[in-house]
Amino acid sequence: MKSSSFTLILSIFGIIQIAQGSPVYKDKNAPLEQRVSDLVGQMSLAEKIQQLNQLSFGINLNPNNKGETVNDVAPEVGSLIYLNEDPVERNAIQRRAMEKSRLGIPILFGFDTIHGIKTVYPIPLAQACSWNPALVTQTAAVAARETKLTGIDWTFSPMIDVSRDPRWGRIAESYGEDPHTAAVFGVATVKGYQGAKLSDPFSVASCLKHFAGYGVSEGGRDYRATDISTQALWETYLPPYEAGVKAGAATLMSGFNDISGVPASANHYLLTEILKQGWNHDGFVVSDWNSVEQLIAQGVAKDRKEAGLKSFKAGVEMNMVDRIYADHLQELLLEDKITMDSINDAVSRVLRVKFRLGLFEQPYTPIVPEADRYLRPEDKIVAAKLAEESMVLLKNERAALPISPKVKSLALIGPLVKDQENLLGCWSGNGKAKDVESIFEGVTREFGDKVKLLYARGCDFDGTDESGFTEAIDAAVKADAVVICIGEKKAWSGENSSRSTIALPAIQEKLVARLKQTGKPIILVLSNGRPLELQRLEPQADAIVEIWHPGVAGGTPLAGILSGRVNPSGRLAITFPLATGQIPIYYGMRSSARPNDGNYKDISTEPLYTFGHGLSYTSFNYGKATLSKGKLASDQMLTVQVPVTNTGSVAGQETAFWFISDPVCSVSRPMKELKHFEKKTIKPGETVVFTFEIDPQRDLSHPDSTGKKLLEAGDFHVRIKDQRLTFELVDNDDRPTVSTPVPPR
Ligand code: BGC
Repeated sequence: MKSSSFTLILSIFGIIQIAQGSPVYKDKNAPLEQRVSDLVGQMSLAEKIQQLNQLSFGINLNPNNKGETVNDVAPEVGSLIYLNEDPVERNAIQRRAMEKSRLGIPILFGFDTIHGIKTVYPIPLAQACSWNPALVTQTAAVAARETKLTGIDWTFSPMIDVSRDPRWGRIAESYGEDPHTAAVFGVATVKGYQGAKLSDPFSVASCLKHFAGYGVSEGGRDYRATDISTQALWETYLPPYEAGVKAGAATLMSGFNDISGVPASANHYLLTEILKQGWNHDGFVVSDWNSVEQLIAQGVAKDRKEAGLKSFKAGVEMNMVDRIYADHLQELLLEDKITMDSINDAVSRVLRVKFRLGLFEQPYTPIVPEADRYLRPEDKIVAAKLAEESMVLLKNERAALPISPKVKSLALIGPLVKDQENLLGCWSGNGKAKDVESIFEGVTREFGDKVKLLYARGCDFDGTDESGFTEAIDAAVKADAVVICIGEKKAWSGENSSRSTIALPAIQEKLVARLKQTGKPIILVLSNGRPLELQRLEPQADAIVEIWHPGVAGGTPLAGILSGRVNPSGRLAITFPLATGQIPIYYGMRSSARPNDGNYKDISTEPLYTFGHGLSYTSFNYGKATLSKGKLASDQMLTVQVPVTNTGSVAGQETAFWFISDPVCSVSRPMKELKHFEKKTIKPGETVVFTFEIDPQRDLSHPDSTGKKLLEAGDFHVRIKDQRLTFELVDNDDRPTVSTPVPPR
């Protein structure tokens, strides 16, 4: 018998040589790879397969993820999605793993901390509108601390799927339509979760998801196939992942989507060729919930065993909840369909993350009093700051905002005024409505005794009941100005929450139309998880503030904007179509063959609000932008600068968006691509200079359909606000076109 077959049999029956003395894998000072290989070398096949198995534990409130409720887990299980919030219970489960399993391998506890666990902060789409990645890192660090103290070591976040269809409910979980924005905020989030080191006491492992292309679900319907050309994959959908991997994201999750005929969870090109061989990621990939078994529904596997084979061979190491690996990997190995080497590699990847997290040394969660664990005042301040910076003033006419000191009575109307639950947004962790500051509370605190507040709910979020209209109209008639708070319930966005129209239900539009008839100034406050169709609402409003789903601390930030204490600084990270029928519509479209023709004949072809739109209470004047030179070679840098003056009377924050256009290229390019942004505070009368250092390799190259990055000599434009400057990229060798592979960012 060959020695490898002999080892296989020994390992199947768990007959493994136990090392004498304390094993290397338990030595925290031994090099990581030695610890990994030492441990793998001591594991039986059954123990290895358990490491690739993830189950869920506890009370599952997610209607989309129903499965068996597992309350008794094998101490050898690799990972648990921990759905309860009891660190004592979690530690008891971990203790069994440490003490009752033969090798004492800690369980990796995972959970969907998407925008906070108790101190819930704004949804990711809102976060991107803050254009403040440093603040997003801070909130993610708050989330990591609360997550860790709940007993969770690993969060299934950030979701960096570029999303251009607001009918898709999961757009709320994304950073919007632009790859650069998703990359920057994805990296900011990874940094906040993972801290300086994964083994720091309050770091958790991050998970980039859903690798890749899930945001392209056909027609915005969830779980549907996606058809993505390799050009689009490399140009639009992969860059955030490449950036996240480079930033050290410990894990990735494969998507539910079928990409041009090959499901993401069985996609060797993505999971192995790109991720592992191309980007050298040495952590692991977890499937999405049941996404291995779903390969049957997607038509690429005849049964569970074949589904497991396809997904394991493609490069999914951990199997979320459907137990296919636990049921079939051994059989597949005995049939020579997979190799022991590939199992060892998969197990090593999982163990690497556990070692990096320091779980072998510190498997237990510190138990701290609940007041130190959740919703600490300093953490709520960070959440409120992000809410404040992510709110976008979409419209402001007739000096409706800030509310003038002359206003002595304010009508607060709408289903969202006193609502707490819905401000949390989708995927709100273990967040509770009782911990949310409502708009009513925030406004009451802000305006105190100075302004009389009149409240009426007016109507529900949907339905046809108009019985509350009269009370609402009465309140409006008695008030000097009317603030109407409408929008979407939290369950209207997120997973499995697609909508055929992005307009608000007719009852809400009707309420606004009736209130408009009072002739009072109308300030519309919108809370929602996606861009909305506002073509009927926008003309009714003097001012519109988009507050998204702000989390636990939305009332005071909004009230600050209403009163003028806060100068709004959010800018849209996603286009607001004029009508649902315009979808897809996004800033980075390619040019039409007939740029002045082909428009809709029934409505405008322009969106209502473009990417980057957002008003301020001050005005910013952009001076003349200048280039450091007119020509550059591919190994040189070019500096472009623009002075911006605050010409108003209050301080404000301005975000400068720098776009690049490549008008002539072997592959047609989007009309413009965001490459850099910066947000700065500018005092009244002050001028500050915004700078963009153009690095040709990073900012002027484009991928071809194999992912190779190319640089082509010729003219480029850099755009800032309404200015366009032209410069030339010349080839070092004086050839008209160069083709330069670029190392990943
Ligand atoms: C979602 C993932 C999530 C997982 C675990 C799935 O339904 O698509 O984003 O992380 O459930 O809750």
